[in-house]
Amino acid sequence: MHAIRKTGSLFLVLLLFISATGQTSDPAKMKTFIDALMKKMTVDEKIGQLNLVVGGEATTGSSVSQDVDNKIRNSNVGGIFSITTPARIRKTQEIAVNNTRLKIPLIFGMDIIHGYKTAFPIPLGLSCSWDLKLIEQSARIAAQEASADGLCWTFSPMVDISRDPRWGRIAESSGEDPYLGSAIAKAMVKGYQGTNLAANNTILACVKHFALYGAGEAGRDYNTVDMSRVRMYNEYLPPYKAAIDAGVGTVMTSFNEIDGIPASANKWLLTDLLRRQWGFKGMVVTDYTSVNEMIDHGLGDLKTVSALSLKAGVDMDMVGEGFLKTLKQSLSEGKVTMAEIDRACRNILEAKYKLGLFDDPYRYCDENRKNEIFTEANRKQARLTAAKSYVLLKNQGDILPLQKKGTIAVVGPLANSRENILGTWAVTADYSNPPKSLRESLAEVAGSGVNIVYAKGANVSEDSALEARVSVFGKKMERDNRPAAELIDEALKAAAGADVIVAAMGETAEMTGESSSRSELTLPASQQALLDALMKTGKPVVMVLFTGRPLVLSKEDKQLPAILNVWFGGSEGGLAIADVLFGDINPSGKLTTTFPRNVGQIPIYYSHKNTGRPLAGNEFQKFRSNYLDVSNEPLYPFGYGLSYTTFSYGEVSVSNKSPKGAQKLTATVTVTNTGKRAGDEVVQLYIRDVVGTNTRPLKELKGFTTISLKPGESKQVNFTISPDDLKFYNHELKYDWEPGAFTIFIGPNSRDLKSTDINWSK
Ligand code: BGC
Repeated sequence: MHAIRKTGSLFLVLLLFISATGQTSDPAKMKTFIDALMKKMTVDEKIGQLNLVVGGEATTGSSVSQDVDNKIRNSNVGGIFSITTPARIRKTQEIAVNNTRLKIPLIFGMDIIHGYKTAFPIPLGLSCSWDLKLIEQSARIAAQEASADGLCWTFSPMVDISRDPRWGRIAESSGEDPYLGSAIAKAMVKGYQGTNLAANNTILACVKHFALYGAGEAGRDYNTVDMSRVRMYNEYLPPYKAAIDAGVGTVMTSFNEIDGIPASANKWLLTDLLRRQWGFKGMVVTDYTSVNEMIDHGLGDLKTVSALSLKAGVDMDMVGEGFLKTLKQSLSEGKVTMAEIDRACRNILEAKYKLGLFDDPYRYCDENRKNEIFTEANRKQARLTAAKSYVLLKNQGDILPLQKKGTIAVVGPLANSRENILGTWAVTADYSNPPKSLRESLAEVAGSGVNIVYAKGANVSEDSALEARVSVFGKKMERDNRPAAELIDEALKAAAGADVIVAAMGETAEMTGESSSRSELTLPASQQALLDALMKTGKPVVMVLFTGRPLVLSKEDKQLPAILNVWFGGSEGGLAIADVLFGDINPSGKLTTTFPRNVGQIPIYYSHKNTGRPLAGNEFQKFRSNYLDVSNEPLYPFGYGLSYTTFSYGEVSVSNKSPKGAQKLTATVTVTNTGKRAGDEVVQLYIRDVVGTNTRPLKELKGFTTISLKPGESKQVNFTISPDDLKFYNHELKYDWEPGAFTIFIGPNSRDLKSTDINWSK
């Protein structure tokens, strides 16, 4: 396909209209086909299409679909998720195609979140690469592998902005920033869907969770969201919109309410905004039983909430079967209309049509594609991507990179762990080929010149209730039941003969993810005690931090000379840590979420407003906006991350200090590698709108680019800025820019910036 695409525009045009097996993606032909099909369908068959059931392989709610094969046979199912392999999917598809009157194929979905069998870093980690090509490629590989395993629909990308690390699902997000989040949303959609959905190696994407799921109160999952429209439009909605603009085929509603109405019944959200304002033409699916959950939200009985949901704009009902059980009756009572059922049915049939399923229901059931899964090449790419997602938080005295000689003591509760490196929501990963542990990876990458000694030293936590709660989806806390003092003693003995100690600390994989909110974000006491003991040895200690969220590291930042944050890197994550620790790869990841000093600072994010009483400097001042007991500043700001080399930034200059109207300007900075190694640097552009009719953030990310510099080398970096970059939604939700003063900042993170002021007139 790639070869064909390159051969010229004639082929490209043909390709747009004719898929490999002859089915067209011409909208007029699609309409004719679906009109004809729907004419033949009974009301029951139409309602059956709106029902999405779950297979046995992974479930995330308390109810599970029953009697699935019979329901398919009775035309009561439109799609199924969480079953895999061409053989099993073919068998299930055969029931629909051979045993139902109209032979309408099923659509097969799955939560393919960060890779398929080849797992990539958790999305929060992936975002820290700031590398859109790498991110797109990870989705492309996931689509290739998933489609080779029978699937054609993924419940990804999740693009929920989150500024609350208590929320466990921040791990699945791309962090706090709408600009970066939008760019990543687009890259993911492109990666999954490619340019031809009907090809057998592309899959339908589903942007989720629409909307505002990341803004639940107090970081508690599924909790109430209450937000002004101005904030919504400027800060939380852009990534969903970016996915829509990139052509995402499906949208998943969120569990939370918005303006007092749960998303799955929110007509403003699903019809006025999504379809009318944004022009979305695809299919809307609910989240897991979220129709039924509206009974507990307090919106009425199953019949009422199902009708509300359909009327609001939902097409497909995930697992709960409210549509299946009640819509016919609601129709006869005039509570829903035939037009509404038809609309939902049509959107689902169109999705199947675009995937080419009417043309060939077994398009994704090719047993001969096994060799496309978990390949050497995919794993190599995953290893590189993982290394690019790691963020060096501290490296005092250049302790890192480690030398490939001497003795290294690898200690800590996560040093010998394999499955945890896969991270949360890795249900599709290849557990028969788990990642190599940090201990194994260091030994492999170091080669024979290094002596690696190991001791666990501590448990992740001594709390057995927590252990039980997070031992799910094939992950374990792997607790050692010996007394804590004995574990520490053993670690100290291992460390005694070492030149350097590598301490693998943090969270297990399922301490983040769905339904995994935490109210304390410090390292558990068992791990702190181990670190205290290790520090007393006087040896250099490098902390390798596994986490799915920003943790509170105030103590460790003071205590330790070096911290490498490795999130959960996926199938090759362990080896990638060794690549970075030994300097085979120079880290270049930058944080996409702010790391707070304590939980009380949350929500904390770089693009906050000034307030009428801003604090000047960092010292407490009475009657200013600050705290009695902690500074306003985060521990590590958005955009922050170190390298094994250093970069210096020159002054920011602009091509025009007083641009007018639609003129563009170029902002320029020279960046120099002032250290001794080659390195990559993510150069970031921020803009402040100094005066407006609405209050505006102190700065907003508006551009970024990665440059590679050899030692001593300088490069000029140019950003083109146009009035489009200045636009925002005002209190009337008008999207425009306002003339006046702006500050242009460029730098290595959201804190350490050089700036210049300009005045843009209309
Ligand atoms: C999650 C979704 C997921 C769905 C299907 C829900 O619990 O919120 O993100 O796609 O389950 O597994």
